[in-house]
Amino acid sequence: MYRYIDNKLYCEDVLLKDIAEIHGTPLYLYSSAIISKRALELKNALADIDDTLIAYSVKVNNNLNILKLMTSFSFGADIISAGELYKYLKAGGDPKKVVFAGVAKSHEEIAYALDSGILMFNAESIPEIIRINEAAAGKNIIAPVGVRINPDVEAGTHAKITTGKKGVKFGISVQNLLASAERLKNLKNINLMGIDVHIGSQILSVEPFIEAYSTVARVISEMRKAGFDIKIADLGGGFGIPYNKKDAPFDFNRYKVEAAPILKSMGTKIILEPGRFLVGESGVLLLRVEYIKEEWGKTFVITNGGMNDYIRYAMYDAYNDFLPLTLRDGFITCDIVGTVCETSDIFAAGRKIPTVKEGDFIALVDAGAYGFSMASRYNARPLAAEVLVDRGKVKLIRRRESLEYLTETDL
Ligand code: LLP
Repeated sequence: MYRYIDNKLYCEDVLLKDIAEIHGTPLYLYSSAIISKRALELKNALADIDDTLIAYSVKVNNNLNILKLMTSFSFGADIISAGELYKYLKAGGDPKKVVFAGVAKSHEEIAYALDSGILMFNAESIPEIIRINEAAAGKNIIAPVGVRINPDVEAGTHAKITTGKKGVKFGISVQNLLASAERLKNLKNINLMGIDVHIGSQILSVEPFIEAYSTVARVISEMRKAGFDIKIADLGGGFGIPYNKKDAPFDFNRYKVEAAPILKSMGTKIILEPGRFLVGESGVLLLRVEYIKEEWGKTFVITNGGMNDYIRYAMYDAYNDFLPLTLRDGFITCDIVGTVCETSDIFAAGRKIPTVKEGDFIALVDAGAYGFSMASRYNARPLAAEVLVDRGKVKLIRRRESLEYLTETDL
């Protein structure tokens, strides 16, 4: 949906240079057509399973308009905070399709989720399950609880986004869960009805999923033997996208063939919590080139964006491609950097891109996931604006913050 026509970059039929000029930069822009396409692919991957729910992972991109789009596909939500629950409900989401993960759910967050009537807590520790039980007892209700297990699986992704290996803060070990079964049975205000797993993000091969799902299937059967009526298997998200066009995309055909038998054998409702796969490739971050600086035998393309707008290179050495909005002849090899006062404020190092000059616009592509949602106001930089291209229409979905806004909440 992003393509050059006569050396000018378009999203669907929209000329991106016009949008950059009208709304200013840094600017996030998303294509709803790409999100819809990915949503269909995911639905298709689960087509052979009877009872399924796709719970969009709200942390990935939580603009209300993106959430509304997700609810229009009948997707639920995987949330991590009261704020995400609030935004999803504001977008018209159904609380009965919400699963709530996170290692540090507070008393207030548990109460809010109980009052909202969510589908299931994904509890990450025994003390948390005890806290949920007490909160539900105080309200004289039964809380729906799933247990997030840590299957000790190598996800083959960046260490900082690996969540299903032993030794990290996420989930309960299988051993501890089974050993705690009797104790959990005595908690009268919970219905322990789900097993949950999420092994990490940006995973491009099918194997780690199959390994994790097999462990979930085993735990479900053990828990049933121990007397729990397990009705839901929540299998998390993690499906990667080819940021580097040399990488093969995630093979959903293979996934479908290999995962379906395991999923069916569980005899439960199946939930997936995808995020990046749905929105990652839909988005670009439009930047303006402020300066071209030659120093140390290198070329720095200095943009008006920063790690406050897009932190993924600084945090995970993440790879993104760059496309100038207007193509010039030739190429340069450069470091593409931002304005923030940190050496780690880089978007790419030693990268060959089509020639750019001062004042040009460039797009950091595949920026729809964990881009804006991880942005901050570091260096007193107002948050960027966001635009959605939806069936040929360009809609501003978040105003650019003003300088005045920066002092709004300081007392
Ligand atoms: N479910 C749970 C419980 C999660 O923690 C996550 C992501 C997801 C689902 C969605 O995963 P996805 O399908 O998007 O891979 N900021 C990092 C990624 C952190 C992932 C956090 N959890 C990045 O920019 O790469």
